[in-house]
Amino acid sequence: MSQPSGPAQRSGVPLRLGIAGLGTVGIGVVKIVQRHADLLAARTGRPITITAITARDRTKNRDADLSGYAWVEDAVTLAQRPDVDIFIELMGGHEGAANASLRAAIASGKDVVTANKALLAHHGHALALMAEAAGQVIRFEAAVAGGIPVVKSLTEGLAGNGMRRVMGVMNGTCNYILTRMESAGLPYDQVFEEARQLGYLEADPNLDVGGIDAAHKLSLLAAIAFGTKVCFDKVELEGIGRISIDDIRRAGDMGYKIKLLGVAQMTGRGLEQRMTPCLVPMASPFGTLTGGTNMVVLEGDSVGQIVLRGPGAGEGPTASAVMSDVVEIARGTRLPTFGQPACTLVDPIPAKATAPAPYYLRLELLDKPGALAKVATVLGDEGISIDRMRQYGHENTSAPVLIVTHKTTRDAINHAINRLPSTNVVQDVPVAIRIEEV
Ligand code: NAP
Ligand code: HSE
Repeated sequence: MSQPSGPAQRSGVPLRLGIAGLGTVGIGVVKIVQRHADLLAARTGRPITITAITARDRTKNRDADLSGYAWVEDAVTLAQRPDVDIFIELMGGHEGAANASLRAAIASGKDVVTANKALLAHHGHALALMAEAAGQVIRFEAAVAGGIPVVKSLTEGLAGNGMRRVMGVMNGTCNYILTRMESAGLPYDQVFEEARQLGYLEADPNLDVGGIDAAHKLSLLAAIAFGTKVCFDKVELEGIGRISIDDIRRAGDMGYKIKLLGVAQMTGRGLEQRMTPCLVPMASPFGTLTGGTNMVVLEGDSVGQIVLRGPGAGEGPTASAVMSDVVEIARGTRLPTFGQPACTLVDPIPAKATAPAPYYLRLELLDKPGALAKVATVLGDEGISIDRMRQYGHENTSAPVLIVTHKTTRDAINHAINRLPSTNVVQDVPVAIRIEEV
């Protein structure tokens, strides 16, 4: 029988885990449960044990002793087992087995812990409604910023604040690629391949480099911070695929680093959410981030600014976050998924970010008289004022030109970019990156 939640949870009765997914994170969880059995029991007042596991391939050699656990052929069956109290979903994907098994677990009276940001970004509100109606909890600390306890910080530590803004570098793979391109002077394609060899990339690499994974995370934090339904499809999104080593060098010449930066804030017009490459000052906290490290900045009306920094991925850090949720449930704490009952979360009014900022523009111009003047005319027509402009060495008939604008809006930049082909001097689509003084 599945055990009832409540005070009985703290009475020394074992808490039984079923783990679906035995990859990087799943095996990390197994190792913590095995290594820290005494510590976990001391902290929760009850033994925490694994009863059943599943993955796709039973014969795969895994870096842990799994002999004491029942192997189950599929995740839905595992989720329904009577000897499982917490169903831990570590398979990934926002449909298929992850979605089906999570629903099966809730329907069978289990609490759920997951690291699956894609699933929650797409179905978080519906799943939270279902869980809360059934009296079950869904916790997801590991889904955002790996080992950094950002979900708990927002849900618990900052619960007394009206949240103003959430910002972050939340995809370790992108940060690794950008910093490695810079430190080794290597082109994007080569570092992307390195990241693949190192096993950093998600099964679909576009989730990382397309900014989607980081946008999933941002949308989950925004839901908690602003009491809204998860609104991933309205995140203004741009990946890092068009950032060149030259962009990184030129940003460096101007005292900036390029980061995939997420910002979510509630304004008078509605909820702004963007995850885009930005230039940030080299000496700023975001500018000093290297490799797979993540950083999240939380701003509340009473507390001011909190900065959280740490490993955003990997076996140990992510399993650490999963176990924090297990311990929370074992202690009898039962929080609504997004920090307030799901039925009270409101539909956000999505708003485009309109706050002006300077922009970095890289254009490939035909190297002929009058070319720059034509570009300057288009920018001027759109009300964009040029702060600095520089032409770099040219190849054949074209020359890279870098323009830094005074403060302007993304809309004005987009209008200008759409008009530039009509000048017949701009080759390729220009790269435009917001300069964020954070
Ligand atoms: P992974 O190494 O690819 O492992 C996935 C595991 O799920 C594998 O054991 C796989 O089985 C199993 N699996 C996949 N589809 C399945 C299915 N239909 N039925 C049963 N088992 C299935 O992935 P991971 O890196 O551990 O990530 C797991 C989750 O954590 C994902 O949601 C991911 O986004 C999230 N996450 C990961 C990290 C990280 O650093 N890796 C950080 C934060 C969050 P086989 O082993 O037999 O193939
Ligand atoms: N692919 C993700 C990253 C894993 O690189 O940050 C952690 O969520």
